[in-house]
Amino acid sequence: MLDSAGKVAERGAELVARVLRVRPNAVLGLATGKTPIKLYRQLIGKYRAGELSFGRVSTFNLDEYLGIEPDDPRSYRAYMEREFFGHVDIDRANTHIPACPPGENPKQVGPRYEERIRHAGGIDLQILGIGQNGHIGFNEPSSSLNSRTRVKTLAGKTVEDNSELLSPGEFQPRLAITMGIATIMQARRVLLLATGAKKAAAVAQMVEGPVTAMCPASILQMHEYVTVLVDEAAAAALKNRAYYDLTFRENEALDERFGAYYADS
Ligand code: F6R
Repeated sequence: MLDSAGKVAERGAELVARVLRVRPNAVLGLATGKTPIKLYRQLIGKYRAGELSFGRVSTFNLDEYLGIEPDDPRSYRAYMEREFFGHVDIDRANTHIPACPPGENPKQVGPRYEERIRHAGGIDLQILGIGQNGHIGFNEPSSSLNSRTRVKTLAGKTVEDNSELLSPGEFQPRLAITMGIATIMQARRVLLLATGAKKAAAVAQMVEGPVTAMCPASILQMHEYVTVLVDEAAAAALKNRAYYDLTFRENEALDERFGAYYADS
């Protein structure tokens, strides 16, 4: 638990930097939405300061809307360009988003995306946000905990949250292609960021609730290596905060002394 959203982004960027120091050609799983914007700014800062290069990095985004073209400013491809790719030395050929080209069968996108991830050697670090309803990617409550990249219907709450970003009368996407829960669970390491009071209930359910498809993020309790970074507001409903803070500090101290542990390095 950290004091502010700014600190969450700083720590998150430091963690990404540590992974890239161990593995400069890491495969990163990326998220969009409001939460990671500050993290991307921190990473851009590190790149500009010469601390980091993304020249050998490959990326796989979690999701993309169906029916929105890549050059539409509302697409996640456009978001990634604006918030991150356009400011660092990443090779666009190594950036992947599960978009469905116009005229193609969206049901074929998922299996192809899974194949690309496999071909890249799997995801080393998956960055996640969390929806107010506990979704990760666009795996809405009731999504199979064993799901793979596929077309998913957005939940009413997600459509409502997204509508804040649209002008009245604008096409509102109701379908997306998202990495599945099993896809996310296969990442070697997961970094989940949550900030703001609106996320407090979802964070508490994810960490302290039962593992259930009704809170897809709760499956992360079964992942081997997850870091959850939250600010005060998002941590507010956690019962066991003192213990998590202690664990976090101890792990940070170990990482500082011995470097970031890496599952298969
Ligand atoms: C984004 C994604 C979503 C968001 C979640 C939180 O690629 O997959 O799961 O991480 O909806 O969104 P924000 O950060 O806007 O609150």
